[in-house]
Amino acid sequence: MVDRNGWGGDRPVLTGSRRSPPPSFVEQANVTDSGIYDEFDANWPDCWERAADLLSWNRPYETVLEDENAPFYRWFTGGQLNAAENCVDRHLEAGRKTHTAIRWEGKHGDRKTYTYRDLYVAINEFAAALRELGVEEDDVVTIYLPMIPELPIAMLACARIGAPHSVVFAGLSADALATRMDAADSEFLVTCDGYYRRGDAFNQKSKADNARLKLAQDVRTVVVDRLGEDLPHVLGDEEFDYHGLREEFAGETVEPVPRDAEDMLFLMYTSGTTGEPKGVVHTTGGYLSHVAWTSHAVLDVKPEDTYWCAADIGWITGHSYIVYGPLALGTTTVMYEGTPDYPDRDRLWEIVDRNAVDIFYTAPTAIRAFMKWGEDYPDRHDLSSLRLLGSVGEPISPRPWNWYYEHVGNGECPVVDTWWQTETGAVTISTLPGIDEMKPGAAGPGLPGIDVRVVDESGEPVEPGESGYLTIARPWPGMVRTLYDGDDRFRAEYWDQFSAPDRGEWWYGSGDAARIDEDGYITVLGRVDDVINVSGRRLSTMEIESAITGVEGVAEAAVVGRSSGTNGTDIQAYVSTEGGYDDQGAVHEAIVDNIEAAIGPIARPTDVLFTPELPKTRSGKIMRRLLEDVANDEELGDTSALRNPEIVGEIQAEIREE
Ligand code: PRX
Repeated sequence: MVDRNGWGGDRPVLTGSRRSPPPSFVEQANVTDSGIYDEFDANWPDCWERAADLLSWNRPYETVLEDENAPFYRWFTGGQLNAAENCVDRHLEAGRKTHTAIRWEGKHGDRKTYTYRDLYVAINEFAAALRELGVEEDDVVTIYLPMIPELPIAMLACARIGAPHSVVFAGLSADALATRMDAADSEFLVTCDGYYRRGDAFNQKSKADNARLKLAQDVRTVVVDRLGEDLPHVLGDEEFDYHGLREEFAGETVEPVPRDAEDMLFLMYTSGTTGEPKGVVHTTGGYLSHVAWTSHAVLDVKPEDTYWCAADIGWITGHSYIVYGPLALGTTTVMYEGTPDYPDRDRLWEIVDRNAVDIFYTAPTAIRAFMKWGEDYPDRHDLSSLRLLGSVGEPISPRPWNWYYEHVGNGECPVVDTWWQTETGAVTISTLPGIDEMKPGAAGPGLPGIDVRVVDESGEPVEPGESGYLTIARPWPGMVRTLYDGDDRFRAEYWDQFSAPDRGEWWYGSGDAARIDEDGYITVLGRVDDVINVSGRRLSTMEIESAITGVEGVAEAAVVGRSSGTNGTDIQAYVSTEGGYDDQGAVHEAIVDNIEAAIGPIARPTDVLFTPELPKTRSGKIMRRLLEDVANDEELGDTSALRNPEIVGEIQAEIREE
């Protein structure tokens, strides 16, 4: 049915045999009543009060859901709360000041522990400093920091004073930072001098400086000194030293600003189907309720746990499940600066062992790497503290799933395969680990209260076992409220395709293809739009293509995702050059440079293939789908609409030669 990516029904995606949750887990699970699905159904939308009840409200909400102006839904309206107060202050009041909030594991084996009290002090001092710098409620503060404790501190300091943050992944380029700051009209930036990655020191400040040069607005910048002597830096006008500010405001406290439930908590830019990144708007009440609830119900987080989500806070996973969800529940959240293979491939297991981590949440791309490296690495350590394992970001096939279950979880930890998106804010599809059987390869059913449907192009549900478009037919608290760039784009991106406003039906289109089985379990098949998911990171083909066509000598380009055994998906670029540009080596180099400058190294293509022409329809549209078939060595789809069918064979021949 949906074969844009060659994921059609003719290519079965296998799921493994079912497994029951281990009894030792069920005994202690946060959620064990299988009636919860029916209860949420019968009592919808009030069922979501359960999520809101996990938070402390300064003023109780009056209405659970306002849907008059769909798809612009409003949750918990009338209520007021502050996210930083929920993540920090209330745990101090509950007598848990000395409990560890953040356990930071640095790149070079350096470590830091922040108790809830330490976090409270840091957030207050930095919030006071931000105010002094002129940050007011509703001003967007951009944060461009790697995985150092100052990142969550800056986020929560913003939340405390009601200033939405927009975190830009530290690995993105100066151009990407500038585009996001420009789109959000952001006049404040928090960054650092540099950071370590593997053995090297990277200069972050020079990227931030270059970004600022491109902006029309004046920007006040706070710089965290991460590298000290390793990378001395000088502060210019309107630049302030983070540690200096903390000293200046030492001991100051700032009252948390009560925010309306629907006030923006943060903006997160993500790739969409056009070259322009989308500014996804998340709110204070709905988002925080949903991340707290799913941390409780899906990840089974308890306050006394040591919980580790090995993602980067620069993306949504880290926002929801390193910072807001676990801290809202008052647990200990581990934050890791380094990579899984440095100094050795047992680094993660060493951290699990030393910290007695209870819950571990990572991405399939990492799990596939662990599998490749072999079981000796986890075997070197005592992983018996683990109680639950999670996966997020890409489909996980049964083999890596089983490997994770056996070699990391020792067959005793449930694995939750959680499907969600930047736009859903929090997990929407997963098994509930204390209730549901697991089916390796299938994420699971929609969570209680989440109405997931797999439909065909006209919005009709497809038969069980057939592939279709993954949609959500009812709103949920953590959902994106709009796009910062405008309500029209919001409707066009997510709602226009499957909704029937005349029937009052608003169905959210996720951009993913999926299959639903008789038992309601969803197997996610991949993206159906012009987005590629590389190692769990979303990249827009158009954004990469425009970086390529910006290179002198390039006539046209098409970028596709190719499935590869170990990396999930990698990027292949097909490029045709203008006459006279014969030095393909030089063009190739310039292409890679341009992509790194426009987006960052994460978007670097694995292969750049030069071809005299790209396959095109008679109306001149590049047929990316065919190139995808070629890249994936699949049987070619219909080529009859092509103006230049012979080129496909030529490209195939070139690939085989390589
Ligand atoms: O294609 C799906 C894939 O990641 C996309 C969302 O990417 P992003 O907004 O960056 O958020 C990533 C982390 C939540 C989805 O559209 N995806 C995410 N989780 C899964 C998944 N694909 C299959 N199985 C999953 N568990």
